[in-house]
Amino acid sequence: MAGHWSTDLVETARKSAGAGAEGTRTGEQAALLAIGMETLHQGDPELARLLDAEVRHQGTTLAMIASASIADPSVLAAGGAALSNVTAEGYPGARYHPGAVHFDAVERLAVERAKELFGARYANVQPHSCSSANLAVLAALVPPGGTILGLDLDAGGHLTHGSPASVTGRQYKALHYGLDSAGRIDYDQVEELAVLHRPSVIIAGASAYPRTVDFARFRAVADLVGAYLLADISHIAGLVATGRHPSPIDVAHLTTTSTYKQLGGPRGGLILSGAEYRTPGPDGRTPLSRLMQRAVFPQSQGTPSPATIAAKARAFAVAASPWFGETTRLIVEDASALAAELAALGYRILTGGTDNHMVLIDVHDRGLTGVVAERALEECGILANRNRIPGDTKPPLVTSGLRLGTNILAQRGMRPEDMADCARLMHTVLEGTASVTDTEYVIDPALVARVRGAVRDLCVSNPLPLGQTTTPATETAILMGAGQ
Ligand SMILES: Cc1ncc(COP(=O)(O)O)c(C=O)c1O
Repeated sequence: MAGHWSTDLVETARKSAGAGAEGTRTGEQAALLAIGMETLHQGDPELARLLDAEVRHQGTTLAMIASASIADPSVLAAGGAALSNVTAEGYPGARYHPGAVHFDAVERLAVERAKELFGARYANVQPHSCSSANLAVLAALVPPGGTILGLDLDAGGHLTHGSPASVTGRQYKALHYGLDSAGRIDYDQVEELAVLHRPSVIIAGASAYPRTVDFARFRAVADLVGAYLLADISHIAGLVATGRHPSPIDVAHLTTTSTYKQLGGPRGGLILSGAEYRTPGPDGRTPLSRLMQRAVFPQSQGTPSPATIAAKARAFAVAASPWFGETTRLIVEDASALAAELAALGYRILTGGTDNHMVLIDVHDRGLTGVVAERALEECGILANRNRIPGDTKPPLVTSGLRLGTNILAQRGMRPEDMADCARLMHTVLEGTASVTDTEYVIDPALVARVRGAVRDLCVSNPLPLGQTTTPATETAILMGAGQ
């Protein structure tokens, strides 16, 4: 590790800008980035100031957003590469434009690293998001008007799992399973609905579910009714990659994920397949891997985003590092500790705890709505987002719950014993907040100032990491010329 944001960021940036400007030690791309930042500061100080303010903000707030991580600065740098200037539809070795020689190598590298990280046989790194990855998979496997089965949005599912608010809920007959009385996925209901309605695809995965997903159980149901199983590991991809959550790669037919959540990569998506990558699609002939290539381009996307793909390649290398393995260990241990601390302070923890990075709490019990709790916490420098909880009577923009995640706390190196501080700070805010309406509240400004100060101190003593120097196993040279 080279240093930390809070201590030597300015000095490091100044030095690397100096070295890069000569175009020698750090190379042309680094020089270009340094010049770009210099030009931005001189030519557009308004925008530059906002970007700097965001860096400071991230360094001094306690972010417990379950769907976020801090991307390594090398990931951000790769995402800003001049590679972005390349326009090249298609795949490596089969582009519809010239000039993609380096992009081809970068995309192959990203594909190989993704396969290595997840133990997959097939990877498509082009989806612009997990939502587009899910849409591509469903379009390839489900006929228009066909049936899909996914977790209900109110039970923690995602919009693209068949919500009426998404095209997946309009183009397909979308059925939903829910949770049992203990708040766990109701696998019996999954089976009953599958047997009754014979969906083309069953989706296993969630946006707000703090427990282990039994992918094998889902697969058994899929086999029973002849459905494809899609595992959406958007939230838990880091835990899956490091063996801290059972992997669906060889269990599901296809697996999708976002790359910016727990993987700490750029905005984007990824489609993976393991043992089933050659399994025929609905036509009985075309292997799933080939179907997915077409499903992304040309069926649902145009040009890929080359610099984003470079950033994905970099993120996969960081995720394969020992530091990331240690971070995911902390993520899980911190989440359990945070749940226990909040329970001790009297909060109702959904499902009674957590197996992953996520803690769901009921704030209605405490006389608050989710949005009031979210806003009061934000005012004090703590970020956690409102979340609907099972049986919620409040609308989605209000809600009765909060969703917390420990990805960024663990990236700061915070340990289970540090979770008492986080829980206490949250409790101080929530206890000091009085709801006026479902969306308005009052809080003592002196309390806000006190908690803000304590949050800042906690962030200074647990700074965000400045960068990981990792040497990935895959080498560009080996990959030049290698096919998908
Ligand atoms: C389970 C799940 N799938 C898909 C998505 C969509 O991800 P993206 O933002 O990459 O489109 C999310 C994001 O919140 C999610 O939680």
